[in-house]
Amino acid sequence: MNINVISVFPEILESSFKGLTGKAIEKNIAKLKLIDLKEFSNNDYGSIDDAPYGGGEGMVLGIEPLEKSLNTIEKPGHVICLTPQGTVFNQTKAVDLSKLKDLTFVCGRYEGIDQRFIDNYVDEEISIGDYVLSGGEIAASVVIDAILRNIDDVIGNKHSVYRDSHSEGKLKGHVYTRPSDHQGKKVPEILLSGDHKKVNEWKLANSLWVTKEKRPDLFKQLQLSEKEMILLRQYGDFVKKKHD
Ligand code: ADE
Repeated sequence: MNINVISVFPEILESSFKGLTGKAIEKNIAKLKLIDLKEFSNNDYGSIDDAPYGGGEGMVLGIEPLEKSLNTIEKPGHVICLTPQGTVFNQTKAVDLSKLKDLTFVCGRYEGIDQRFIDNYVDEEISIGDYVLSGGEIAASVVIDAILRNIDDVIGNKHSVYRDSHSEGKLKGHVYTRPSDHQGKKVPEILLSGDHKKVNEWKLANSLWVTKEKRPDLFKQLQLSEKEMILLRQYGDFVKKKHD
């Protein structure tokens, strides 16, 4: 995958590409090109933004520097602008984008981006949540990380991606590690049983339970099979008994 990022502060992104994303770059699974928008000013002052027409606060990133910087990319592919006005990002979108070969991210700053650039070049606007960041750089890092996790070989254990929260519309359940007994708080017995079928059923029931408790909005959208409903009911009975 070729990932290009146009930003006024590319150094913000540089520092975030170390862990998982760094490994993907090392393994040549992803090629990352950071483009510094400041190098594409079209005036003697070196500025890349200007006051908004019609008045208002802040500065707007101009179409000319953005256009010039985009034109340096051989194959921009799918162009995404990170803004608080975009469609809210989720796991389905991460999986869809992970199938593309060329991606270009444009990070907004200041009061926004000249609408004509968005109209002419941007395929979609993405927001990472209903809050406002100082710029799109952190949002781009979040989106790129979430995309790369879904590409084969980026994560050592491919199956762990499929058990991630949100991978099938539900949250990942509880996990435990040694010791099996910490000051009387014990790991659920089934997990120590070695019975794979039972362990998998417990994991499924636990994940459904966690989703129902923590994200009823997601739970409502799940279409449970009869077996899943039975497992969840049994799990609910077990939890109730524990608290009675
Ligand atoms: N830029 C500023 N706020 C943002 C957000 N919530 N998502 C994406 N880009 C942004």
